[in-house]
Amino acid sequence: MMRQHLIAPSLLAADFANLASEVEMINNSDADWLHLDIMDGVFVPNISFGIPVIEAVSAIAKKPLDVHLMIVQPERYVEAFKQAGAHLLNVHYEASTHLHRTIESIHSAGMKAGVTLNPHTPVSVLEEIIPMLDLVLIMSVNPGFGGQKFIPGSLDKISRLKELIQKKNSSALIEVDGGVDQTNAAALVNAGADVLVAGSYVFKSVNPQEAIKRIKFF
Ligand code: DX5
Ligand code: ZN
Repeated sequence: MMRQHLIAPSLLAADFANLASEVEMINNSDADWLHLDIMDGVFVPNISFGIPVIEAVSAIAKKPLDVHLMIVQPERYVEAFKQAGAHLLNVHYEASTHLHRTIESIHSAGMKAGVTLNPHTPVSVLEEIIPMLDLVLIMSVNPGFGGQKFIPGSLDKISRLKELIQKKNSSALIEVDGGVDQTNAAALVNAGADVLVAGSYVFKSVNPQEAIKRIKFF
């Protein structure tokens, strides 16, 4: 039987003027995690929100916080995100020169550790680090903005990552982020995805809780 995949709605697409009710809606939904996108205007050409917002969300969220750092030198803020309430910390492969040390420090801070790959970065760069990872996040759009079109090559990339995980006896989960909706959710899970991030598809829906159901149960 196929393992039930998880859904992590991305708060980036939420109504920021009504954040408490958006988080409450997720609390009462079938979502498994809450995905939080941190952008610094340097690693990606956009700025989102930072640590005070994570703290505020953490105070009311009933789902684990999956934090996606799109920032340069993410190692500077590992402890700060732990204090703010992050359960899982994702750092970009392209942003961390000493990735092994960064992963160790995420673990010592008491969080799960994930590494994120931009669309152009091959999964083979993870060969040495994969046994240490709790999760790999595959970007299926170029990071920086919600509402972009899914890059179809991401499906094959997920299959190749699955092979690498099995070959290395890693227990890392595969998460996919960008342009996920009901047209590609099943194919992503079939290719090996364990966690689907969805921003616009969930928060811009007329009924976000139904949208979550549509990509969770099929
Ligand atoms: C993009 C972010 C995503 C974004 C996804 O840089 O990492 O998490 O919120 O948004 P959608 O689902 O609208 O593509
Ligand atoms: Zn993200």
